[in-house]
Amino acid sequence: MTATIIDGKAFAAKVRAQVAEHVQRLKDEHGLTPGLAVVLVGEDPASQVYVRSKGKQTVEVGMNSFEHKLPAETSEADLLALIEQLNADPAVHGILVQLPLPGHLDSDLVINAIDPAKDVDGFHISNVGLLGTGQKAMVPCTPLGCLMMLRDHHGSLSGMNAVVVGRSNIVGKPMAQLLLGDSCTVTIAHSRTRDLPDVLSRADIVVAAVGRPEMLRGEWLKPGATVIDVGINRIEGRNGLFGDCDFDSCAEVAGAITPVPGGVGPMTIACLLANTLTATCRANGLAEPQGLTA
Ligand code: GUN
Repeated sequence: MTATIIDGKAFAAKVRAQVAEHVQRLKDEHGLTPGLAVVLVGEDPASQVYVRSKGKQTVEVGMNSFEHKLPAETSEADLLALIEQLNADPAVHGILVQLPLPGHLDSDLVINAIDPAKDVDGFHISNVGLLGTGQKAMVPCTPLGCLMMLRDHHGSLSGMNAVVVGRSNIVGKPMAQLLLGDSCTVTIAHSRTRDLPDVLSRADIVVAAVGRPEMLRGEWLKPGATVIDVGINRIEGRNGLFGDCDFDSCAEVAGAITPVPGGVGPMTIACLLANTLTATCRANGLAEPQGLTA
């Protein structure tokens, strides 16, 4: 193996420590405690794990955590009423509605009911538009975490060829916008891309976010490329978690690569906390934390 391993677990711990330092300063100098409200509808086991982890880490950095667990059969009107209440609550600076929602609830409608200034997921249509036009937005957590790792590894990304594999609203599209914002030449590849190996052969940066285990092969990479693997997949009959990249072959060719687990995963919640801090600062007319935003 030749690639440098980008340690997302250690990086996320560093981000959380920086957030905690800022939170302490907000408390000491402004009497402000950032608050994050997480809304979970139903009992999806994976979502319950995420929400518990978010709540724990929120408290660990000194923020207030407000958890709202609603039954699976909650009506859209009741959920929207809760969001209205959180929008109006001055102790709540960030609101996250855990996805997926039960089938009878319209996710777009619910997400777009959140005050965009409190939309720490960056999923509200206003934040999508602000990001797309290069304005100050709340930025989705996973792509923000990927950007932070890339900036940390490379310094400037200006002029690099970046290929994002996957076109989801949560990762692929905002990731491409962020890379464009850092002056990369950006290609979005997806399931209909004709010759993925050819596209990847010119990529200095690869962000894999397709949700297909071990799909990207080392032979397709440009030697020395930096590979950010967003995938978290399970494979039947094998223990553990697997990325979208075939780690062993990619690590032979890449210059740097994020492992799964321990790469992008831990950065997502760290960036959620960073976004909650940013939202608190913006809501109170205070300077934003350096290095924790796009
Ligand atoms: N479900 C899985 N990941 C996420 C996330 O980042 N945000 C929300 N709201 N729901 C999720």
